[in-house]
Amino acid sequence: MQVFEHISSLRAQLHQWRQAGLTIALVPTMGNLHAGHLSLVELAQKHADKVVVSVFVNPLQFGPNEDYEQYPRTFEADKMVLEQFATDVLFYPSASQMYPSTDWMTQVVAPNALTSILEGSKRPGHFDGVTTVVAKLFHIVQPDLAVFGQKDYQQFAVIQAMVEGLFMPVRLIRAAIVRDKDGLALSSRNQYLSPQQRQIAPKLAEALVAIETALASGNVKVRDVCDAAYKRLLQQGFDDVDYIEVRDAKTLAPCKDLTTSQTWVILAVARLGKTRLLDNRIFQQQGRLHQ
Ligand code: PAJ
Repeated sequence: MQVFEHISSLRAQLHQWRQAGLTIALVPTMGNLHAGHLSLVELAQKHADKVVVSVFVNPLQFGPNEDYEQYPRTFEADKMVLEQFATDVLFYPSASQMYPSTDWMTQVVAPNALTSILEGSKRPGHFDGVTTVVAKLFHIVQPDLAVFGQKDYQQFAVIQAMVEGLFMPVRLIRAAIVRDKDGLALSSRNQYLSPQQRQIAPKLAEALVAIETALASGNVKVRDVCDAAYKRLLQQGFDDVDYIEVRDAKTLAPCKDLTTSQTWVILAVARLGKTRLLDNRIFQQQGRLHQ
């Protein structure tokens, strides 16, 4: 595996591969890699000749009171595991290289209808930080394809809107959520959980399954089912629930009538102490339900 810290040397290597007719995949990450990230690498390897993994904790996507400083940075361990997974390139740029100036900065902004809802309403500016850094990475690497996780469902939708809106010549692949044995979606932030909080955490994934089951049984209102799930999560020990909602899987528009689209997504964020746990579940709905 080659490790590049500088854009110019990375580009020189990528140029050689492109000249040789090889395809290139990019897997953007913020490091502290777990099995979820590594499943993205494996998927990328199936679809491209060479795989570039970027590790960059992007300051622009963190709010002023968020965990940018505490975010786990485990570069040596990440490097080792990527080597074991036969990654071709690890790109590890500095913040000053990615953002040479904070008062002279071009940013990429996806449609407000997508970035202001759900995560965007709780984390103002977050998605502008994500699209800006991902656009930079796409321009640096110019990959044929890029892999992102379903774990961050709205992030994928926002990046897809950016790629379509700016005619970026890159194919996006969405990888399924990797979970622990008890159902908890893997996340770098899970390590903030105390042992007691860790026991409560998988109830979030269970709530999503329960909502899907209730909706499939018919004769229930989406709002009632989500409200019941919300209350149950609080009873089960979550400190707060930011949202638990059924949305159109493509547009993320609120669910008015389940029959207008066959594919829906249940999106939820619940808090244990300061830790926000994100999860989601895609489901197909056949037939008419009462709203
Ligand atoms: P990060 O949180 O490090 O996640 C990197 C990628 O791994 C994302 O596409 C995310 O959806 C995916 N991922 C995380 N947990 C996963 C899981 N349990 N199963 C499957 N995939 C999972 O997301 C970011 O970084 C940043 O916003 C980034 C896109 C790198 C831009 O800075």
